[in-house]
Amino acid sequence: MSIDLGGLTLANPVMVASGCGGTGRELAAYVDLHELGAFVTRTITLNPRAGGPVPRILETPSGLVHAVGLQNPGLEPFLASELPQLVQQGARVVVSIAGTTLGEYAELARRLGRAPGVAAVEVNLSSPDAVASGVLDVREPFHAANVVAAVHRELPRGLPLLAKVRPDLIRVVESARTVLEAGAAAVVVGNALPAAMPDGRPAGLSGPAIRPLALRCVTEVRDALPDAAIVGCGGIADEADARSFLAAGATAVQVGTALLHDPTTAARLARALTTDREVIG
Ligand SMILES: Cc1cc2nc3c(=O)[nH]c(=O)nc-3n(C[C@H](O)[C@H](O)[C@H](O)COP(=O)(O)O)c2cc1C
Repeated sequence: MSIDLGGLTLANPVMVASGCGGTGRELAAYVDLHELGAFVTRTITLNPRAGGPVPRILETPSGLVHAVGLQNPGLEPFLASELPQLVQQGARVVVSIAGTTLGEYAELARRLGRAPGVAAVEVNLSSPDAVASGVLDVREPFHAANVVAAVHRELPRGLPLLAKVRPDLIRVVESARTVLEAGAAAVVVGNALPAAMPDGRPAGLSGPAIRPLALRCVTEVRDALPDAAIVGCGGIADEADARSFLAAGATAVQVGTALLHDPTTAARLARALTTDREVIG
């Protein structure tokens, strides 16, 4: 029994969250990537990015703070080596993107739309250190919608666009509605929360600490937008967590920080929830 996520068909509702599964090579040492509903790549930009200064990831009680600075090889090397090996491993690949201009977003969409093996594009509209990282400032839902519209225009018809919005309770419904109206097939709710490294650098907070907040955001979006395809993300670490997001109205879930503790988490959840759906179905 498969899942329909706004036109993206998944074998089960469990995805690896962007930036938390390496390039797939690291994760593949522990799990079969084809067992996952989907694998979301780290955010890819048009040009390579070296990322921010170290330390980039620190443990805090109940979570991680991180300021990776969207380190990635850039589009060309991604298309040449990362994408093919993910496809070869049988992963359902969702490519996360960010840009410094609307033109860059459009260019990324144009090129990825023609790349074999891309199942969907996820637009990262919610990096907690985005502004410090120099990507387009899309904290206003109106600006986020402009990005989604630019990407949507360039993607081939039938290639779903996922929009990853901030888990900001005050504006999450407005954000979700706006990006869906602009052409997103599904909304990912949400990302790491804005935080700071001990030295004050802008960072994100993720892991169990943010789970109740992310869950509340999913609930609010589901209540306001009953027909929306929603992906819940934030602090999901075990089957009970995943089930609570699905019960709150998420169509699928993404697992991030938990993979840094146990890289088998997402595949185990995928198996558990696949069996569950087969029994129910
Ligand atoms: C080390 C690290 C790197 C991340 N990199 C990205 C990224 O490149 N793009 C993105 O959209 N989200 C990124 N995220 C955010 C996760 O995809 C996820 O949305 C967030 O951490 C909340 O989920 P979690 O609590 O399960 O980790 C990153 C998170 C971590 C911990």
